[in-house]
Amino acid sequence: METLLVDLQQRSYPIFIGEGLLTTPDIWAQYITKRGKVVIVTNETVQKWYLAPLTQSLQSSGFDVVSLILPDGEEYKNIESYNKIMTFMLEQNCGRDTTMFALGGGVIGDLTGFAAASFQRGVDFIQVPTTLLSQVDSSVGGKTGINHPLGKNMIGAFYQPKAVIIDLKALATLPKRELSAGMAEVIKYGIIWDNEFFEYLEQVPNKFWQLDNEVLTHIIKRCCSIKAEVVSKDETEQNLRAILNLGHTFGHAIENFMGYGVWLHGEAVAAGSVIASRLASLRGKITAKELERIIDITKQYELPVGKPDNMELNDFTKLMIHDKKTKNGKVRFIIPDALGRASLYDNVTNQELSLAIK
Ligand code: NAD
Ligand code: GLY
Repeated sequence: METLLVDLQQRSYPIFIGEGLLTTPDIWAQYITKRGKVVIVTNETVQKWYLAPLTQSLQSSGFDVVSLILPDGEEYKNIESYNKIMTFMLEQNCGRDTTMFALGGGVIGDLTGFAAASFQRGVDFIQVPTTLLSQVDSSVGGKTGINHPLGKNMIGAFYQPKAVIIDLKALATLPKRELSAGMAEVIKYGIIWDNEFFEYLEQVPNKFWQLDNEVLTHIIKRCCSIKAEVVSKDETEQNLRAILNLGHTFGHAIENFMGYGVWLHGEAVAAGSVIASRLASLRGKITAKELERIIDITKQYELPVGKPDNMELNDFTKLMIHDKKTKNGKVRFIIPDALGRASLYDNVTNQELSLAIK
């Protein structure tokens, strides 16, 4: 087992990475410090495999456990599901001594985290991410929230979990398309932060597809440690943390335009990262060869390398104005400065956008 720390003074917390962690509460139960109910929020897909083992682990450690099973899908990351959680917790007479568990992918993690941030002004929560995407990204760093029809993740809070429990065994049941979607965020870390990690990813697609334990552990550990470092330096995205949004300005527009759930978040981010890399290439920040490598690696992990056919520049600009990085009416983009470095730019012209999107 590997342990990392997200260093945020009194809000610091551990990330545990290992096989079979769901059923080894000795490692993580100490992070439930309140003695009230434990509420597990999950969805109808994930509950089939993982709700019983987690419930048993908690009960064997002496906790009073209740669970809420939500429908599955990005389209349910909304105010109705949030309200269902609130109603359930009130009906269960949950108090401020409740600890919530988010058992599932990024949708359940973001939604449960936001419910934890706001139920009775805040209760403890623990992330148990079960998709690759949530294990390498969304469960760490405390961004929680829900979608609004006018924009993705528009309602939310920065609210850190008390621990993150990453059980590698969960990836065995994950569909291939979801594994690919997770790799979009993994490749992102290589482009924005770690050239050597990018090179490593170029070498391991075959082992990755075989779910090689060593490769998965290395990937998850490296991504979580980059995310922990960035979040420790800039928890509330005043500057540095924005680089984690490489490809997301384009990606969120694609998700919204296509209808939430049609393109997976990771697929939209992959296409967005390639578009942002094209901007970098147009500006001479990365070479044509480096752009080719970014496109190649994206294809190796079976992800899209461009926009949906039916989406035009105008569709992007209308939607991107709602991006949370927009400042003084200017849409801002993360663009690689080199392979392994990136920063935020507010001076991208429509002409550049048009070329990059095409
Ligand atoms: P998801 O939560 O929808 O999960 C993908 C699918 O996999 C779902 O159908 C789910 O039921 C299923 N699933 C989950 N675990 C499984 C398992 N072990 N075996 C089989 N099926 C399983 O999607 P996601 O890709 O995990 O997360 C995407 C969401 O995360 C988006 O809403 C995105 O905005 C958010 N996100 C948040 C952050 C953040 O920092 N908070 C970062 C990146 C993405
Ligand atoms: N996924 C982007 C962030 O956590 O900041």
